[in-house]
Amino acid sequence: MSILLFEGETHAELYAKYRPKYPDALYEMIGNFCRAQGTSGVGVAVDVGCGSGQGTFPLCDTFNHVVGVDISQSQIEQALRLQNLDNKYDASRLSFRVGPAEDLSFREDNSVDLVSVAAAIHWLDTEKFYKEVDRILKPGGSLIVYTYVLPKPDKEEAVQMEAQFYKEHLSEYASSRMFPKLEDYKIPYSDELGLRTVPMNSTLSVHEYVGLITTLSASQTYLQHNPSSAIFDDLTQRLLELYTDSVTKEEIKMFTTSTVTVRTGRKPL
Ligand SMILES: C[S@@+](CC[C@H](N)C(=O)[O-])C[C@H]1O[C@@H](n2cnc3c(N)ncnc32)[C@H](O)[C@@H]1O
Repeated sequence: MSILLFEGETHAELYAKYRPKYPDALYEMIGNFCRAQGTSGVGVAVDVGCGSGQGTFPLCDTFNHVVGVDISQSQIEQALRLQNLDNKYDASRLSFRVGPAEDLSFREDNSVDLVSVAAAIHWLDTEKFYKEVDRILKPGGSLIVYTYVLPKPDKEEAVQMEAQFYKEHLSEYASSRMFPKLEDYKIPYSDELGLRTVPMNSTLSVHEYVGLITTLSASQTYLQHNPSSAIFDDLTQRLLELYTDSVTKEEIKMFTTSTVTVRTGRKPL
């Protein structure tokens, strides 16, 4: 089953701009897991459902070669644009390709050290995907699945405002896939470490925070039904009233907190 809800250049552009950067501690944890005794090593990583590369680029600090895969052509175009802008890793180290996670036939059997899935497991047909994971992973290779919750603002009024906004405008367009609980997913290998969490905190402007909300699939579906709606501008204005210094009239940045939830598995030797 493939889902094209994220297809559409505007959404991919918003995504590349406003989705949060994952914390360095997460990639330290991934690096340690993949370098531990009995693992296949840190040669090749494949990041599926990679979007514009939020979880793909950081893997280049650990792995010799990294491939990002996404079903959406426009997400991959954004990833390639960012790769060219950054100009840090050439195509021999980092490549992106359009395709479904459920068909990784571009890789041979037993040829990959890590398959990662960042905020995308809920879009996949896990039965088909896990078969492919098991086929391409080397013995001792790792599967790492992670996701996060929407960042929470530091002012209670802003938290309430967002909750009300969601209930009033977005909830009818939200699919149960929007905020996956990793507890609900079976990992095909023994998962001795269980569920682990890494804090993900950011300092955002109101514009960046509302930008992040626009990237949610429910927001995109809302906008498809209500293309000229001003609800996001209205939310921005109301939040700015909370985040403007009454004396200097300057905007105060919002400190947001979130948690990345991680599950790990290793293909037996
Ligand atoms: C919420 S985004 C996550 C993007 C990125 N990994 C991140 O952490 O921000 C989910 C991504 O999964 C992709 N996707 C959905 N179904 C897919 C499938 N069957 N195979 C590969 N990618 C898929 C979407 O196009 C989208 O880019």
